[in-house]
Amino acid sequence: MDIDSRMRQRGEFPTEQPIEALKTDHAYARELFDSYFQAKDAGDRKDLGGHLLALLEMHAELEENAFYPRVRELDPSLVGHFEEEHGEARRLIDTLKAMDADDPQAEPLFRRLAGAITTHVDAEEQQLFPKIEQANLDMDALGREMQAYEIRLIAARTQRPAAPGVRL
Ligand SMILES: [Fe+2]
Ligand SMILES: [Fe+2]
Repeated sequence: MDIDSRMRQRGEFPTEQPIEALKTDHAYARELFDSYFQAKDAGDRKDLGGHLLALLEMHAELEENAFYPRVRELDPSLVGHFEEEHGEARRLIDTLKAMDADDPQAEPLFRRLAGAITTHVDAEEQQLFPKIEQANLDMDALGREMQAYEIRLIAARTQRPAAPGVRL
């Protein structure tokens, strides 16, 4: 199962379309949740689950450090709610990362995480992103900042040992 090649590699961030890059991550996360819940093979589940958690962590770090700060400059009231939801998702992710893939509690926790993430990314796409796209924001500058952050993020992750089941 080739699930690694879909992740953006170092420097591949599309600088002219930063919002599209976030939507691409969302679409990939939705697909990985579907694949995880459909997978019958324990090894596939372990791979998909680990990959999904890594994608969500990277996406959240990118948004929190290189996207939400720019949104906050635009309108400080826009990001608090989304950051709180990131905090809730991170607690579930940390619990899942500490768990064996075949733990019977893993699937119900992945279902809770899927529900939380779906609500969150739908709200970003339907409420937050349109406001940013309509705002007078320098998208190229935002894209370059996000690309630079993502390059550092990928470099840092590849230098430290992966969590069990995470192949990044
Ligand atoms: Fe988010
Ligand atoms: Fe997002």
